[in-house]
Amino acid sequence: MKTILITGGAGFIGSHVVRLFVNKYPNYRIVNLDKLTYAGNLANLKDVEECANYEFVKGDIVNGEAMLSLFRQYQFDGVIHLAAESHVDRSISNPTEFVFTNVIGTVNLLNAARAIWKDNRDDKLFYHISTDEVYGSLGKEGMFTETTKYDPHSPYSASKASSDHFVRAYCDTFGLPTLVSNCSNNYGSYQFPEKLIPLFIHNIRNKKPLPVYGKGENIRDWLWVEDHARAIDVIFHQGTVGETYNIGGHNEWTNIDLIKLMCAVMDRKLGRASGESEKLITYVKDRAGHDLRYAIDSTKLQNELGWVPSIQFEEGLEKTIDWYLDNEAWLENVTSGDYQKYYEEQYSKR
Ligand code: NAD
Ligand code: DAU
Repeated sequence: MKTILITGGAGFIGSHVVRLFVNKYPNYRIVNLDKLTYAGNLANLKDVEECANYEFVKGDIVNGEAMLSLFRQYQFDGVIHLAAESHVDRSISNPTEFVFTNVIGTVNLLNAARAIWKDNRDDKLFYHISTDEVYGSLGKEGMFTETTKYDPHSPYSASKASSDHFVRAYCDTFGLPTLVSNCSNNYGSYQFPEKLIPLFIHNIRNKKPLPVYGKGENIRDWLWVEDHARAIDVIFHQGTVGETYNIGGHNEWTNIDLIKLMCAVMDRKLGRASGESEKLITYVKDRAGHDLRYAIDSTKLQNELGWVPSIQFEEGLEKTIDWYLDNEAWLENVTSGDYQKYYEEQYSKR
């Protein structure tokens, strides 16, 4: 029996990782630690909450004492650390929150692991989940590899870059067994509708304007969230301590092409005339410091650990749109209350 801590398990990617581990490893005790911020939602885990090998703990990684007690109580064998403030636009409005959670929260977890594991860490692992945004922005050519120099531009990516450096520094300085993976943009079910794909599904459904930043020419490399969860499983079990693995879908889209595809798919699904939803496209003021292009080279992960993405983007996008249309109650629930205030603040001035 191993006890694994998953932080941020009530969020978008975390909930998929918790679900995969709880179902696939009945001999692991999975402890999901989450503060339940606006982005954390226990409804994301309804299907596993009764499982005997699953436990939820409400807690804040910024509280170092609480993290130490948690590690002392559970004696974790492994940590998969996803808890973070994750939205770039929010990091532009409130950078400090990102320093607390992403930097200090990560250091608190590293300190707790170090204090409890001491020299007894042969079969232990601290696995930190990071992003391709730490590498900065690409021009028309090239891809991010594991050796690309860090060059973050947003407060979000700067805070993630800082946390990555701390994780590696604890490995080099204290011998803490750590691993880092850097992934491209995820899409799929249970994503909070502040991010492009679920936000635009929600707006198309409700015939609201689709706020495209700048000219819509920025490029993102989209990966099915369940493929990210599978990659995390493979890396957690087979990755080499001290290494970094890039995870990506080789699936680049300009925002505007992606948005037009979503409009066409949703016109068909909602029985609207072809071209109707595209009329909702509204070009708005660009995001400050907006990175032009991300593209991940995941050759190392594919060659060394045998992971490959399982689904074509067009199919994954259809499934994603179906999920949000079929789960209107979930969407209504997360877009009530504070969401309206956020939306007003974020988009009324653009
Ligand atoms: P999310 O915002 O959906 O979820 C974050 C979770 O962390 C929420 O459940 C939230 O309640 C929890 N949390 C936030 N602050 C906390 C705190 N102080 N203490 C405890 N829990 C706290 O994020 P996501 O999109 O699922 O991203 C998860 C991780 O993956 C993040 O580290 C992010 O940087 C990384 N990542 C995300 C993407 C993406 O496309 N979404 C891509 C690459 C990497
Ligand atoms: O690359 C990985 C990263 O992907 C993760 O580390 C982040 O946690 C995650 O939020 C995501 O960051 P992005 O900024 O790329 O994702 P977002 O969905 O916010 O935006 C995708 C693109 O769409 C980006 O170029 C900005 C644009 N956009 C976004 C929103 C919300 C718009 O044009 N209009 C919008 O309203």
